[in-house]
Amino acid sequence: MGITRAIWDREEDLFITFEGPDGSGKTTQIQLLYQYLRERGYPVYLTREPGGTSIGDQIRAVLHDVRNTEMRPEAEILLYSASRAQLVGQVIRPRLAAGEIVLCDRYAESTLAYQGYGRLLDLPTLRYITAFATGGLRPDLIIYLDLPVEEGLRRRLAAYQAGGAEWNRMDQEEVAFHQRVRAGYLQMAAAEPDRWLVLDAAQPVDVIQERIREAVIARLEKVGGVTEGHNRSRTLDGEIIQEGDGEGRR
Ligand code: TMP
Repeated sequence: MGITRAIWDREEDLFITFEGPDGSGKTTQIQLLYQYLRERGYPVYLTREPGGTSIGDQIRAVLHDVRNTEMRPEAEILLYSASRAQLVGQVIRPRLAAGEIVLCDRYAESTLAYQGYGRLLDLPTLRYITAFATGGLRPDLIIYLDLPVEEGLRRRLAAYQAGGAEWNRMDQEEVAFHQRVRAGYLQMAAAEPDRWLVLDAAQPVDVIQERIREAVIARLEKVGGVTEGHNRSRTLDGEIIQEGDGEGRR
């Protein structure tokens, strides 16, 4: 594909996160969105939490190890936050500054939902720690896939038994914990309707993906991106580059 239109000449960045209870299908949806944007030549970067950096992946292993039953809630929060601080500083901010769309599978709202609403830890303290870890970076759009708790846990268990998914410390929590997490997500979404897109995760995968694409394209139009011929992007040093094959950069 040749260069059809010069785009991405914008100052704004676009940071999109995906949230949802375990088993809601957010990882499938974020990957489909990533492919969609890439195929259209948008400069897009996909990452996840906890993890996304070498240090973050090491922290993830500690956090998710089911043998770590003695982990204090305070330690848990700080470990998630440490992984996030590393990801924001090393990856997310530089990518946004380079004009890329950054998609992140979970972000700060997971800490508020799981450690705040789920573990009943003090929300203002969590917000303070989170702001410190991220330097105040918040998503432009949070896509939340909502699912009844029992259905989410059923899907998680089925995926784990089929051998395709890990079973982590959060999965071991009681149903009431996951219900508080879900209620917390819905409360946060209701408080900031412009930032959140809430979708029913029980719908077919392609229906959900269509809604997500509509919302993302609308945001791109708002910040100055257009929907065809996305061949222009900045490198991490800010230099403008042109790519003739229509492929985005990672
Ligand atoms: P996932 O990678 O399969 O989404 O699993 C991540 C797990 O970690 C999930 O159970 C939610 C949990 N989690 C928290 O409890 N707090 C956080 O801040 C994050 C990022 C994840």
